[in-house]
Amino acid sequence: MIKHLALLSLLILIADNILAQGRVRQGKVLFRQCILCHGENAQGDITLGAPALVNQDAWYLERQLANIAAGVRSEDPSDFFGKRMSPNAKALKGQQAREDVVAYIKSLPPTKTRGLIKGNAEKGHEYYQMICGACHGPNAMGNKILNAPRLVGINDLYLKRQYLNFKDGIRGAHVNDKFGAQMAFIAQKLQGKNIAADVAVYIHSLQDQAENQNK
Ligand code: HEC
Ligand code: HEC
Repeated sequence: MIKHLALLSLLILIADNILAQGRVRQGKVLFRQCILCHGENAQGDITLGAPALVNQDAWYLERQLANIAAGVRSEDPSDFFGKRMSPNAKALKGQQAREDVVAYIKSLPPTKTRGLIKGNAEKGHEYYQMICGACHGPNAMGNKILNAPRLVGINDLYLKRQYLNFKDGIRGAHVNDKFGAQMAFIAQKLQGKNIAADVAVYIHSLQDQAENQNK
């Protein structure tokens, strides 16, 4: 009897794990509503303010979709671009839908993003090594244990905007935004007019190296 119960719970555990995983086929259908802004290959469309999603890690994409759906992110009245995204995250019903759409995004080939802004990459390098690398990793590939996302391979214009959003209290200020608060704390402590642009330009320059790491 005990043996059977143990086997049963093991089977439930396995079934649970299978169900908890994103399903690419279902995700493809859900992704149709995302193409308009993020592009067919989730490469992003910077004229619409929509970042590349395909290079980002699944755990982070899922968390952002959950946060945006719950109103933890993108609710600030002055968050112009967040407002475009918010109804789309809310239209995905539940965790399974979020996992499915992310599984589809991650089945697409990685892309190269174009550098769009100007900044001082050398200064950015200094800031990055001194401050950002501790959480986002030495090559900006992210650190899941610290909840800090990958930054390389994401449009530099978008990175700069998010950094400024944290600094100006547009992102990371919601009481339930535990991880956003950590990032907001850093951005608010750092003084310097061009930090956001300098660091974003430096991070963008790491893209070729990152591509080799992915191979
Ligand atoms: C109407 C345009 C539009 C549509 C449609 C749209 N998005 Fe977005 N999305 C945006 C914009 C703009 C942003 C940037 C928001 C910001 O600046 O905070 C964004 C941000 C995101 C982010 C956060 C990325 C990050 O690095 O933090 C995720 C994840 C995301 N979108 C996924 C999706 C998915 C999945 C769909 C389809 C279900 C979708 N989006 C549909 C415009 C859109
Ligand atoms: C204490 C750890 C920590 C440090 C140091 C740190 N960050 Fe972050 N950062 C985070 C976390 C955690 C998040 C995720 C926030 C969330 O989940 O919304 C984040 C998010 C971001 C994002 C948003 C990415 C996206 O796709 O939306 C940007 C941009 C960013 N950080 C840039 C920087 C830069 C530039 C520096 C250095 C000046 C830096 N961070 C230093 C922890 C850190």
